[in-house]
Amino acid sequence: MANDDPRLRRYWHVACRAAALDDGPVAATVLGEELVIARLDDGTVTALPDRCPHRWARLSDGCVRGAEIECPYHGWRFDGAGRCTAVPALGEDAAVPSRAHLEPVRTTEALGLVWVALDEPAAPLLEVPEWDADGVVAVWLPDTDLSAGCAQFVDNFLDIAHFPFVHRGTFGLEDQPETEPFAVEDTDGGAGLRVRYRHEVANPEDPAVATGEHPLVQFRSMEYTWRVPFSARLRLEYELTGVENTILVFVTPVDATSSRLFCVLLRNDVTSPEDPRARSAAEFEYRVLTEDLVLLERLAERDFGLAVTEQVHTRADRNTIELRRLLGAHLEGLDGAAPGALDAHTVPSLLEATP
Ligand code: FES
Ligand SMILES: [Fe+2]
Repeated sequence: MANDDPRLRRYWHVACRAAALDDGPVAATVLGEELVIARLDDGTVTALPDRCPHRWARLSDGCVRGAEIECPYHGWRFDGAGRCTAVPALGEDAAVPSRAHLEPVRTTEALGLVWVALDEPAAPLLEVPEWDADGVVAVWLPDTDLSAGCAQFVDNFLDIAHFPFVHRGTFGLEDQPETEPFAVEDTDGGAGLRVRYRHEVANPEDPAVATGEHPLVQFRSMEYTWRVPFSARLRLEYELTGVENTILVFVTPVDATSSRLFCVLLRNDVTSPEDPRARSAAEFEYRVLTEDLVLLERLAERDFGLAVTEQVHTRADRNTIELRRLLGAHLEGLDGAAPGALDAHTVPSLLEATP
C-alpha cells in the first residue's frame, strides 16, 4: 500500500490550515489532484479543481470576490458549488458556456484545518478531547513536505523502539534500548487504536534541569491514538513537571512518493502561541521531527508494505503490526470484501514466531 492507492480517495485528508485562507485562495495537492481552497466572504470554504476551464490558469493565483473565486487570467468567476457565474468579456448578462463549470470537492473544517475527501468518506475524523480544553494552547509547527509515504510516517510516529536510536540527540535514552511489554487496544470499530506506555526519557525542555533542581531523566506517560488512515495523536504527561503536551500529526498523500505533514502541539505550559516557551517547544519538537524525517526519507521503499510477511516483526512492534492489520482491513472493507490474508489471527502467529 502506497500513497497512490486509489482507495485513499474514500478518506478525509488535510488540504491546508484554515488560517492559511485568510490571505486568499490556497493551492493544495491531494492524491495527485490539484485543488484550489478558498474561504468565500460568507465564511464557507470551497475546494475546486485548480484549473480554470477556459485557458487553464490556476484559480489559486486568483482572488476571492464576495462569494466567488475570480480567475486571474480573464476574470471568470466561480461560486462555491463550482458554477461559472460570469465571463466578463461577454458582458454582465451573457450566458456562460455550459462546460465552464467545475466539480467541487467535499470539504470540512476541524482542528484548525481544512479537510477534503475526493469520494464519499468511509471514516470520521480523529477525536481530540483536549482541543478546546481550558488552559491548552495550540502551537503549530511549520507544514512540512516529506519524501516518504503517509503510512510510513504514521508507522514511525507510533513506533516506540526507535527512541533510543533515532532520538538519542533529543529525548531518547541510549542506555535504555528495551521496550517494555504493552497492550494495543482497537477502537472505533477497527478505525483506530490506542496504546498507553510509561517510560523514562531525557527531558531537556524542563527549565529546572539546567538549574539542577530536576534530573534530566524523567518519567512520562504516553497515550497514542490513531485514526484511519493517517491521523494520530500522542498525549505526553511529564510526571515531575505536570507538563501535558499533545502532539497531533496529520499526513496528506500528495502524490505517489511525497506527503505533507501538518503538526500541532497542544500545551498546558504556555500562555499563547507567541510565548517564548511556545516557540522553544515548537523548535524542540521540530528537531525531534527532523530526526525522524532524516531516517524516513532514506527508507528503501516508499511503499508501506501492508503485506506484513515481507517485513520482520517482534513483540516490540505490536502496535505497528496492528496498524498494518487495521489499515489493511479498513481498506479492504471499502469494497465490501472481508479482510483477506491479514486477519486477526495473523498477528499473534507473527509475534509467536519472533523473539
Ligand atoms: S483562464 Fe481563467 S478566465 Fe481565462
Ligand atoms: Fe520518532
